[in-house]
Amino acid sequence: MPNIRILLVTRSNTVASAISARLEEHPEYRVTKKIISNGHSDPFHDIQSKPDVLLLHYIQGYGELEHLAESAVSQRLPLIVLGPPDDAIAMRLAMRAGASDYISHPPQQEELLSALTRVREHLKEKVNSRGQLVTVMNSKGGSGASFVAANLACALTQQKNTNAVLVDLDLQFGGLARYFDLYPKRGLPDALAEVEDMDEVSVEAYITKHESGLRLLAAPTSDRLLLSRDVAIEHVDSLLQILASNNDYVIADLPRRVDDVSATVLEHSDQILMVVQQSLAHINDAARMIQLITKELAVPMNRIRVVINRHVKNALIDANDIKGALKIDQVTVIPNQYKLVSESIDSGIPIMQTATRSAAGKAIQHLLHDVCGTEDTESTSHLLGRVLPAFLGRN
Ligand SMILES: Nc1ncnc2c1ncn2[C@@H]1O[C@H](COP(=O)(O)OP(=O)(O)O)[C@@H](O)[C@H]1O
Ligand SMILES: [Mg+2]
Repeated sequence: MPNIRILLVTRSNTVASAISARLEEHPEYRVTKKIISNGHSDPFHDIQSKPDVLLLHYIQGYGELEHLAESAVSQRLPLIVLGPPDDAIAMRLAMRAGASDYISHPPQQEELLSALTRVREHLKEKVNSRGQLVTVMNSKGGSGASFVAANLACALTQQKNTNAVLVDLDLQFGGLARYFDLYPKRGLPDALAEVEDMDEVSVEAYITKHESGLRLLAAPTSDRLLLSRDVAIEHVDSLLQILASNNDYVIADLPRRVDDVSATVLEHSDQILMVVQQSLAHINDAARMIQLITKELAVPMNRIRVVINRHVKNALIDANDIKGALKIDQVTVIPNQYKLVSESIDSGIPIMQTATRSAAGKAIQHLLHDVCGTEDTESTSHLLGRVLPAFLGRN
């Protein structure tokens, strides 16, 4: 569990110093102090990055608790209130603001630490129970990222007890709905605009369901184009968090673009699938993208997997060349099956619905196992079938 970032908000310098001094000897808690000296009642005013927990020293008459009590439930962070002892009104307000604890000020050290431990445990559970964000990105337009994302999501949905949602993050030309012959009535632009009042239940109203069980969040075709600069990064963050809280997998189809929206999606991704083809141009662009993701965004290399799509044998550049050039071991290969794939896209029927036994279908199945970290039972049994007789001296 990483360290917990605490935002300590108070109107008193003395309280700020006293409380942060008490937590100094606990390196698992990193305290940022904010002393409000003006008329603001929003504890997060001017705060750039949100903490894990807000520790609010409440004094009657300044309105911070009232402010928090009025904020959208989905926007709330864990809250601990330090307030006057036996003050029923303050306690009720703290409850309305969603506080997990109300501690009489000045606090007993044990009481403070046990309230923080409870928050820490709660955050740990939340991280463990949240679904994975898997981002599929192309190294060049036309690599097949949308095809891979659509069929991977379809394959995930067919797994027992797996909840998955596919999100078309191509804000301008998103056409993922066509891959399923779907015509969303509401979708991503509305969801982003209304995310502040949204929760795990109400988000479903923006999701379109496919007969296969797949769930898609995409823009209605009639919607105006969204420009990245019109999209608030916090809204993208919040939406992805809400989706991850009630799905095992959130599959994001992210076109290659270097902007704040892509950066935040990539930073939050548990896995990034970089779709390339066997050409120097693809490899060059993939290398630059991987460099950017690992260096500028500090995403660990082990979160990236390269998917070689439209793979043909005996090409000038083979899978090993790509592994070497991109310095990456995690590679999945999807064969070139032009007729099957283009017919599937044109008809809006994913290959994972009708052609699971095709070479491309089997490759998607392999990708599914790679992404889920499960054993590919079929190939294992084949391998065993081949190796076992030799092992037993029957060959
Ligand atoms: N494995 C494949 N075999 C043959 N053709 C493919 C394959 N994957 C994708 N294509 C073709 O490439 C085109 C572009 O795919 P798409 O998924 O839209 O790419 P991207 O989202 O990376 O721009 C599709 O129209 C499809 O015809
Ligand atoms: Mg695409």
